[in-house]
Amino acid sequence: MKILYRDNVLKIEQSKPGKPIELLRRELGIEGEVCMLASNENLLGVSPLAIHAVKEALAEGNIYPDNSCYELREKLGKILNFPMDNIRIGNGSSELIYLAGVAILNRDDNIVMSECSFIVSKLVTQIIGCHAKEVPLDDYHHDLDGLLAAIDENTKIVYLDLPMNPIGTSLRREKFDRFMDGLPEDVLLICDEAYHEYADRESFPETLPLVRHGRNVLVLRTFSKLYGLAGFRVGYCVAREDMIEALGRVSLPFAVNKFAQIGAMAALDDKDHVEKTLKTTAIGKKYLYEQFNEMSLFYIPSETNFVTIDVKRDGREICAELQKKEVIVRPLIMYGKPTFLRVTIGTMAQNRKFVETLKEIYPVVIRG
Ligand SMILES: Cc1ncc(COP(=O)(O)O)c(C=O)c1O
Repeated sequence: MKILYRDNVLKIEQSKPGKPIELLRRELGIEGEVCMLASNENLLGVSPLAIHAVKEALAEGNIYPDNSCYELREKLGKILNFPMDNIRIGNGSSELIYLAGVAILNRDDNIVMSECSFIVSKLVTQIIGCHAKEVPLDDYHHDLDGLLAAIDENTKIVYLDLPMNPIGTSLRREKFDRFMDGLPEDVLLICDEAYHEYADRESFPETLPLVRHGRNVLVLRTFSKLYGLAGFRVGYCVAREDMIEALGRVSLPFAVNKFAQIGAMAALDDKDHVEKTLKTTAIGKKYLYEQFNEMSLFYIPSETNFVTIDVKRDGREICAELQKKEVIVRPLIMYGKPTFLRVTIGTMAQNRKFVETLKEIYPVVIRG
């Protein structure tokens, strides 16, 4: 029989989908809340202004959304002081990484990225059938010289997550500026700033001015984290107009649904929710650091809404034990870090539940 699929499709490693929360609850006999700290969502919830706006609009669900996302782009343009033609909205920022890959990469091309970076860029190279050149980290940070050295004549894109997921670190502005000086003009830099609001403002790289100056830079942002809209699927990018146009050429119509657009517009106005989220995250992070220090657990200081720790044991085993006790966090074996796990900073009640459960199971695992 003829094989239908492109050869690279069969080579793609499929990640095992997690179980729906309801199924897990039934299987584990959980009556109360499952403490979901695995996906870096905003655990204070959806922006209340977004909920209100979307509820009001539900009856318009029979009509296709605005394919150009005009109002949301206009609003973002005003906030960022950019013409709206430099902005594209995506079905999550992940969709925009995908579109950039489809628009740019041929099979002989490669992306240069760090090991332990957000996985979607690598996945896109696998879908296209080209190559991701992964550069080892330098003390849990992007090795910028290593990334520059990895660029060859087939490199079309360098992908930088700023801050990194699942590592949590960012870059100082001066280092980034030096890196930009060394980056060939014809290579596209994707700066994925999904967690930029949680990063240190003073030292965070200035990426938008690079777009303004016509550099080959695409800045990605999302509503999935700070704004609490992960389930709505909405993100955006800022780039030169020709690049925005190229992304449009390879996208499917109506990819960003109406309620995602409406929710995102309202969430941008929700200053209270943003402030509360940042405050809760900062307090939660401090608490987790104190607890990890007390437990002598190594953690990577984070500029995000999660913390990555080395449990010095099989991370999957620890996660499985935590799951039995209704706490779900992410093992990092697929990033080549078998003893690390990543925990999302939640409400104080969730942070406490995680720490208490870890303290409960840790001696059991160590004995085992
Ligand atoms: C670095 C990074 N970029 C992008 C995303 C995806 O965001 P979105 O939900 O907008 O697709 C994530 C999600 O975890 C992330 O960690």
